[in-house]
Amino acid sequence: MSSATAMAHPNVALSKYWGKREGPGNFPAVPSLSVTLDGLSTQAKVTFDEGLPEDVVVINGQVATGLVRERVLRLIDRVRRSAAEDRRVEVVSHNDFPTASGLASSASGFASIALAAASAAKLDWSASVVSDLARRSSGSAARSVFDGYVELEAAPAGAEEELVLAARSVAPVDHWPLVVFVCVTTDRPKAVDSTTGMLETIRRSPYAAGWLEEAPRLHSRLMSALVARDFAATGELAEASFLAMHASAIAAGVLYWNGITLELLGVVRNLRAGGAEVFASVDAGPHVKVFVLESDREKVRSALDSVSGLIRVIEARPGRGAMLLSEPR
Ligand code: PMV
Repeated sequence: MSSATAMAHPNVALSKYWGKREGPGNFPAVPSLSVTLDGLSTQAKVTFDEGLPEDVVVINGQVATGLVRERVLRLIDRVRRSAAEDRRVEVVSHNDFPTASGLASSASGFASIALAAASAAKLDWSASVVSDLARRSSGSAARSVFDGYVELEAAPAGAEEELVLAARSVAPVDHWPLVVFVCVTTDRPKAVDSTTGMLETIRRSPYAAGWLEEAPRLHSRLMSALVARDFAATGELAEASFLAMHASAIAAGVLYWNGITLELLGVVRNLRAGGAEVFASVDAGPHVKVFVLESDREKVRSALDSVSGLIRVIEARPGRGAMLLSEPR
């Protein structure tokens, strides 16, 4: 038996990845910039075991079947090929937050599974190679491998499937001590997963071309705003990114928001009009991530807490990338 356990945090993108290159490899069509978040985490244990009759994937205590199982086993098969490993595998992962609802569980899930799998297979891979492996299952997972503020570039059009495309840390955890309130608006899984949402957007949205053109411009301006720790510019550009992403998706009939999402976005606008340094972001789900500086933390927290129907608020800060919790045995 050979086993390893890893932990990874989700991340939230300031400039959004939305849209894939055509063809195999799961390559992003636009660049993205994210913050890895402490305060939420996934732990994954991967065991290659000669005694197992078949591969087993267990997520949050439930045996995974169908597409979820296939997606995990595709990653494992890549590791098995690289390590000439032919034993069956058991993958057990657990999130301490709602799964598949737009809280980036695929990011922390695939980042932790990739690191644990490479390590259990005794592959001495760098973080970049682990990031590339995670990206093949979930673009955002490539970013959760790294600490702090993380960039994933777009792939060149027509990239060969074997091209290595990894994320990279552009600023450490302590570069900018932002507070992120993750406002959970439902515990239900989302109806449309992000892969389907992206494909539908690119296929059907009259605004897909506009999004694909605008996203890299917003991204490069965000990189400069981040380096300069310019909160107002970061907020304006990050909101422009998520709004343009969702506008293009909504025009294709892909609508992730609920009433509380809109209510929270209104609260953030009112707080800003009242002078608070605050901005919001929404991923492929109905939850709202609210970014604030320490000086306005309490004021913003109490305004968010007053929104009726909100399930809970998780307070997060820039966090570490994926890490091994146990040495491989
Ligand atoms: O990594 P995926 O395939 O789950 O896609 C993530 C898409 C967004 O979360 C909406 C944006 C992002 O950059 O994280």
